[in-house]
Amino acid sequence: MGEIGLYEALRTTRAVRRLRPDPVPEDALRRVLEAATFAPTGGNAQPWRVVVVREAAKKAALQALYAPLWDAYAAHHRRLLGGMPEEARGRQERMLRAADHLAHHLHEAPVILVFCFEPAAMAITDAHLDRPSVVGGASVYPSVQNALLACRAEGLGATLTTLLCGKEPEVKALLGIPASWGTAAHVPIGWPAGRGHGPLRRRPVEKVAFADRWGQPFGA
Ligand SMILES: Cc1cc2nc3c(=O)[nH]c(=O)nc-3n(C[C@H](O)[C@H](O)[C@H](O)COP(=O)(O)O)c2cc1C
Repeated sequence: MGEIGLYEALRTTRAVRRLRPDPVPEDALRRVLEAATFAPTGGNAQPWRVVVVREAAKKAALQALYAPLWDAYAAHHRRLLGGMPEEARGRQERMLRAADHLAHHLHEAPVILVFCFEPAAMAITDAHLDRPSVVGGASVYPSVQNALLACRAEGLGATLTTLLCGKEPEVKALLGIPASWGTAAHVPIGWPAGRGHGPLRRRPVEKVAFADRWGQPFGA
């Protein structure tokens, strides 16, 4: 396995939605899963597990659940594109086309990682606030991101998806996930069919970081 630098990986790990169906070697997959285990969790409780889905029938069932969710989401999203400036619209359309492809070929990905979490084992310190709680996710998604970065290191494409979490009861029944566990992400993995990883479009630090007080420029 060729090593790439950490910053290079961070700078180029993007959603890779066009995947070849060729299998992922067991040792590469194990390194990806081991990378996930290195992530921090509240109190080191490690309240997450991952179901590595490779069986054709199970992948087909996941795809059948996912595609209608994506199609509805994409139809809504496309209706909003009309008012956008040309360049931004072009980018959004390219993303939607790639995501359409993923939705209709999800079962062809050699591996789909289904990340699960156990709410009872989490200290969800914002659960009482009058807004949607996010803290529980912080004991799951760092593992997902570690897996994505490890995929990058292996040359594997992957996408963090969450749409299918809306069909959690069906996914739990399909994969035998215990009643007390939830699902947090579905990550199709495979060798890139197109360009794969590459430069990202993100807000610059100046737009996202503040110095000491909200709105005060950092590093001005
Ligand atoms: C919380 C979350 C949920 C996402 N859900 C989906 C999804 O259901 N389907 C999908 O195709 N992409 C999904 N994505 C991928 C995002 O669209 C993608 O990370 C974002 O557009 C940035 O893309 P880039 O890394 O290629 O620049 C999700 C990403 C995140 C972080």
